[in-house]
Amino acid sequence: MAVSESDFLFISNLLYERLGIRLEKEKGYLVESRLAKVAERAGVGDLGRLVLLLKTKHPPEEVINDTLEAMTTNETFFFRDTAPFEALKEKVLPVLIAKKKSEKAIHIWSAACSTGQEAYSIALTLREAFPHLSDWNIRITGTDVAGKVVAKAKEGVFNQSEINRGISPPMLAKYFTRSDENWKLRDEIRNMVQFRTMNLKNDWPSMARMDIIFLRNVLIYMDNESRKTIFGRAHRLLQSHGFLFLGAAETTFNISDLFKRADWKGAGCFQPL
Ligand SMILES: C[S@@+](CC[C@H](N)C(=O)[O-])C[C@H]1O[C@@H](n2cnc3c(N)ncnc32)[C@H](O)[C@@H]1O
Repeated sequence: MAVSESDFLFISNLLYERLGIRLEKEKGYLVESRLAKVAERAGVGDLGRLVLLLKTKHPPEEVINDTLEAMTTNETFFFRDTAPFEALKEKVLPVLIAKKKSEKAIHIWSAACSTGQEAYSIALTLREAFPHLSDWNIRITGTDVAGKVVAKAKEGVFNQSEINRGISPPMLAKYFTRSDENWKLRDEIRNMVQFRTMNLKNDWPSMARMDIIFLRNVLIYMDNESRKTIFGRAHRLLQSHGFLFLGAAETTFNISDLFKRADWKGAGCFQPL
């Protein structure tokens, strides 16, 4: 790899300590390609000098954050994998609506929400399939460690190729308006979600108990120790009747015995034990 072994080691340790993300040796090319721009923005020219800056006693916090954010993978799209959102509509929400009909409140968290498509897919599912819940207190929270993606999520503006990945023409017509070349989500959906930054690796701030947690496609970048800690925290935060959604290739099996898999094909849905 073109990046030196010691620079790679320094960046991968930083990533693990701060975010819980494990960077495999074969991913050396990612360090080089993604951090070239960070070095440029920091005004140091190249990766070697960026690492020297990060090794100083008090490296600028914004350069650390820029480095960490550049190393995250923010791939996401609307209604990703379909099955979780089908399970949400057909199984999970009907159960919760029946259970909470006197309280009329449902709290949903999209942890590691990237640019917001996951949280907005939840909001769109609710609005489309359960329009009668308008007098309920439905709180959807989207969080991600990367400030840049959270800022984009808050805007709720998506380009054509982002729209093409998951938004049907009728849904586009109903819930989006043109904004120059892009599409902006209508306020009725945007206002259903609150976004903020949060690092899953650090102690979690106090949050309302959740009925549903989407924790999808982030633990794949972590090791089993970090996954186990995060499953433990998710278990404490989730109501005993709650639901945890993981990514299609993810599981709690052999990592945490706090959850059992719900029996819905491909939904990646787990329930607390
Ligand atoms: C691949 S995206 C997944 C987005 C969405 N959940 C989905 O499944 O489409 C992974 C996201 O995890 C975020 N992430 C990585 N490490 C994190 C951490 N320690 N705490 C919170 N978010 C983190 C990244 O910034 C990135 O946006």
